[in-house]
Amino acid sequence: MYKKLTPAELKKYKTQDVYVLAIESSCDETSVAVVKNGTEVICNLINSQIEIHRRFGGIVPEVASRNHLMALLPLVQEAMTKIPQNANVVVAVTNKPGLAGALMVGIAGAKALAFSLGVPLVAVNHIEGHIAGSYLVGVKPQIDPGLSTDKPLRPPFTALVVSGGHTEVVKVKSHIEFEKIITTADDAIGEAFDKVARVLGLPYPGGPEVQKRAENFKRAVGVAHICDPHPFSYTIPPADSTHFSYSGLKSAVINYVHNLKQKSVGVAVLSDPQIDEICFHFQELAFKQLTQRAVKLADKKLILCGGVAANTRLKEMMKEEAEKAGVEFHPVPFKYCTDNAAMIGAQGYFNLINNRNIATMELGNE
Ligand code: KG4
Ligand code: ZN
Repeated sequence: MYKKLTPAELKKYKTQDVYVLAIESSCDETSVAVVKNGTEVICNLINSQIEIHRRFGGIVPEVASRNHLMALLPLVQEAMTKIPQNANVVVAVTNKPGLAGALMVGIAGAKALAFSLGVPLVAVNHIEGHIAGSYLVGVKPQIDPGLSTDKPLRPPFTALVVSGGHTEVVKVKSHIEFEKIITTADDAIGEAFDKVARVLGLPYPGGPEVQKRAENFKRAVGVAHICDPHPFSYTIPPADSTHFSYSGLKSAVINYVHNLKQKSVGVAVLSDPQIDEICFHFQELAFKQLTQRAVKLADKKLILCGGVAANTRLKEMMKEEAEKAGVEFHPVPFKYCTDNAAMIGAQGYFNLINNRNIATMELGNE
């Protein structure tokens, strides 16, 4: 499934400008980007299926694959117009982890493109892609106001990856060397947000909805940073535990909601202030478990990435904790937190110039 570039090819890609045409289709976003030299986003097109899956209260894998199939090539056509003529082009694609059928659509498209263009195909791990979101910088601040124009961040650093499928602290030793230090023993944090939201009758995806509701509560009661006392039968795992855990918190919230509904006989739905308060406490507890441990495990620099990193309260808590510990904190810009192909293009470039994950036409999903 993998091969090596020749020394001449490697030299060319290391010394000349490279435009990575990147494809991401591991979940419910079809995205195609063009990234120059691993850091400069030329375009980042995203076709989100959120509205489609919202009807079902979550992602339906078959529906996701079908929509990737329809969305992918129109995005590729548009992205290719942004690549200068005669540029060095390579194709990068997410090949794991993710929904099998969804990944296969992106991989099949990427293989056909690389084959027909006669250029290398680079496989990218989705989690490494989330981490590589931190290498993207804005060279055109007027177009990309969320990005700094500073020099790109470089490893080594520690990464806290928080998404719908992952909750991990990873030591990033170089652009291609990763060591997972802590992961979750059960649910991922984003999954817990989505399930809690569902029980509360909030739309999919739950993360942004829970954040809004928690903000409502904070506004209504004034400054409320404390989650102790909170209403659930739940204790945060000790700071020295070897794993994160979210199933206990999720179950505690679900039990609390069921009990509330049982008590209010004849009233099937909770009031808005009740939902706001539950979201607030859930969110505080979910983040408290992460912040101290991630900061403690970081040496000098800590980055925050993945869909849940879009959460403003999490960024606030991490920043506070990092400042106390004298650790540099670098959250990935908001627009590159949730799934996107620009981050895949960034990691694809660093895989390429390190002769890593260069795929053959037999590449499959893993
Ligand atoms: O990285 P991502 O787009 O997909 C995966 O790789 O899983 O992450 C999606 C997850 C979902 O669980 C979603 O609810 C969560 O990120 N999320 C948030 C926020 N925005 C997205 N969670 C908390 N607060 C947010 N603002
Ligand atoms: Zn993701």
